[in-house]
Amino acid sequence: MRSRILRWYLIAMTLPTDTTSIQAYEELHALRAQLEHHERAYRQGNPEISDSAFDDLYDRYQALADELGIPSDERLDQRPGAEHTEGFDSIEHRVPMLSLEKVTPNRRDKDGAPVPLGQQLEQWHVRRKKELERGADDVLPVVVEPKIDGISVSLLYEHGDLVRAVSRGDGKRGDVITRQVVEADAVPVGLRSTGITTGRVEIRGELYWPRPAFDAYNRELETRGERVIANPRNGCAGLIKRKDPTGLREVGIRSFLYQIAWSEGVTVPERQSEVLRWLSESGADVYLSEFSTFDDIRDALAFCEGYGARREQLVYDIDGMVIKLDELDVYSRLGGTGHHPHWGIAYKFPPERKATKLERIAVQVGKSGKLTPVAELQPVFVSGTTVSRASLHNFVELRRKDVRVGDTVWVEKAGEIIPQVVGVLPDRRPAGAVPFVPPSKCPTCASPVLEEDIFVFCPNPACPDQIRERLKHFASRHAMDIDGLGVVLVEQVIERLGVRSPADLYSLTSDQLAQLERMGQKSAENVVRGLNASKTKGLARVLLGLAIRHVGETMAEDLASHFGHADELLAFAGRYAAGEHDAIERVAPEKASERGVIEGLARKSADVIFSELNSEAVRTVFSRLSEAGVSLAAKKPKTRDVAAIAGKTFVLTGTLPTLKRAEAASLIKQAGGRVSGSVSKKTDFVVAGEEAGSKLAKATQLGLSILDEAQLLALLGQT
Ligand code: IVH
Repeated sequence: MRSRILRWYLIAMTLPTDTTSIQAYEELHALRAQLEHHERAYRQGNPEISDSAFDDLYDRYQALADELGIPSDERLDQRPGAEHTEGFDSIEHRVPMLSLEKVTPNRRDKDGAPVPLGQQLEQWHVRRKKELERGADDVLPVVVEPKIDGISVSLLYEHGDLVRAVSRGDGKRGDVITRQVVEADAVPVGLRSTGITTGRVEIRGELYWPRPAFDAYNRELETRGERVIANPRNGCAGLIKRKDPTGLREVGIRSFLYQIAWSEGVTVPERQSEVLRWLSESGADVYLSEFSTFDDIRDALAFCEGYGARREQLVYDIDGMVIKLDELDVYSRLGGTGHHPHWGIAYKFPPERKATKLERIAVQVGKSGKLTPVAELQPVFVSGTTVSRASLHNFVELRRKDVRVGDTVWVEKAGEIIPQVVGVLPDRRPAGAVPFVPPSKCPTCASPVLEEDIFVFCPNPACPDQIRERLKHFASRHAMDIDGLGVVLVEQVIERLGVRSPADLYSLTSDQLAQLERMGQKSAENVVRGLNASKTKGLARVLLGLAIRHVGETMAEDLASHFGHADELLAFAGRYAAGEHDAIERVAPEKASERGVIEGLARKSADVIFSELNSEAVRTVFSRLSEAGVSLAAKKPKTRDVAAIAGKTFVLTGTLPTLKRAEAASLIKQAGGRVSGSVSKKTDFVVAGEEAGSKLAKATQLGLSILDEAQLLALLGQT
């Protein structure tokens, strides 16, 4: 899960009508948006959450997608990709570095009920016994170790000497970091203490930065007035990829070695428990006191549960425990998937849960007018921060949980980040507490509310809260990224300078801005510079910034790259809104099995998106932005013409074995080709995958060249 090279695809779906499923879909959408956001932040080098928190979000997303029966090719997809750092040699792992299957509090059964961790673990153990043809009462011992939240490393020893250290990379290839780990004194440079002086052995483990050393480093950064490092894991990852490793010794990176990947000409132990002892003797930091061997899987579970309570006292961060079969000779027999081996499984700790008093239920108005109930709480410390506000999701959910003002409620952080009220302690309900009544009017502008599905909306686009939220969103980093235009300034430009629409921002002058509170001439000029710089961000960012419902980052990019310019997009929106059949079928075909030109765009979302785009208000904003000099053209991805592709027209149909359709389309476009939605005589190639339907038939009829994925990749020069 480290690589985080994710490609996201919207889920083609028709929204269900029962409340529970709607909530599940809503949560799925919210999770996708969060993952998308954090993925981008990570890629831009500004991660906002730890990897393990990211993994939790991703797990929750997968569990929910399982529950809803979303086919795997329609999910957001996490692929190992180029986790390669410029300037480092990369090397293929002789044995791939995989992930672990997990038992997690997020797993649910068919009826949506959580599956207890113990049950998941027992199921795993029973399956392994069956595969090994052992009797139900036979003992199959396991070793339980802490799962260190660090950086995986592979170490090659020849004749007992460390000759190479390699990072995990994308699991298949990693970067050579030998000089770095040696200079950091993080791993044993020799295995002589174990008596190994011959042969070759590859050992794997985790590099980590102990808390005290990390804190000391951060204190020093602070005194120098520099930005502190967010967490030890990210810090360790950064340090170990320093091209010049001089001085790394002082920072105190350590390792926990836990596995022999393969060996030649060396006698190695036959049990995992012995491996850990053996590694410890070799001088590696192996937490002898921290692993245990169990015959009974229920005892292993109890050990995991008990360990969670000790997390706070450990000098290293752990994101769970790893349960491994002790007998190493069964590992190859058990095999695994391309993602994880079957010999081990990870246990994730349940999130911390605290009780506190709910003092008030506030109602927030979002950028598209959605009203959201928010719990205002007596401050409580949960998973590392003090929480005083927590999401209550929506009014249906609030009623289902029957949360009332005055209640004592359970608070938890979803994915260890977003505080949520997960339930009520009914025994602690004060006398006279009454059910919460959702507002019938917007709490800010008093417009009568509209109900749509499970949501409640303020329908007034001029609602002051909506205006503020829309402007904040337009200026935000993920949209137009307008330097200097933060929350406080947005409020001032609305109140003092009469700004209402994003287009108004572009007529602000530095003299006007300089009169505002806490704004000097210099900062005012900076904001104007930020506004000017934002003019060339391109159509995708503008679309995202306009806060059109169902248009997140991916959809904005898909729309921009498909239509190329706002004029084309708006013309199309007009045709769609006028009910032109062709237009509708092109973007969102009725049958979920058929794909429109915008991958996975559901009819229901398309209706909302194109009707909003076709509205007078949105059209006016576009034309005013254009007058202000804001570019409404899509930014072209960098292209490098490939002779066999450039200038040719391709049609994609059916499911390709490895490439997503959008991915194939983008490769073709980057190579200078065109991608069209329909087959005609002008089509040069039809790329057909499984279940290709009428387009393939038509292509055959017209005698066009038909390619499979491998042939396409060959044309692209990628094989
Ligand atoms: S065993 C198939 N043992 O967790 C790889 N891994 O989610 C199994 N990790 O990539 C490796 N502590 O980086 C193992 N005691 C431990 C571990 C551990 C941390 C990491 C490792 C691996 C990831 C799998």
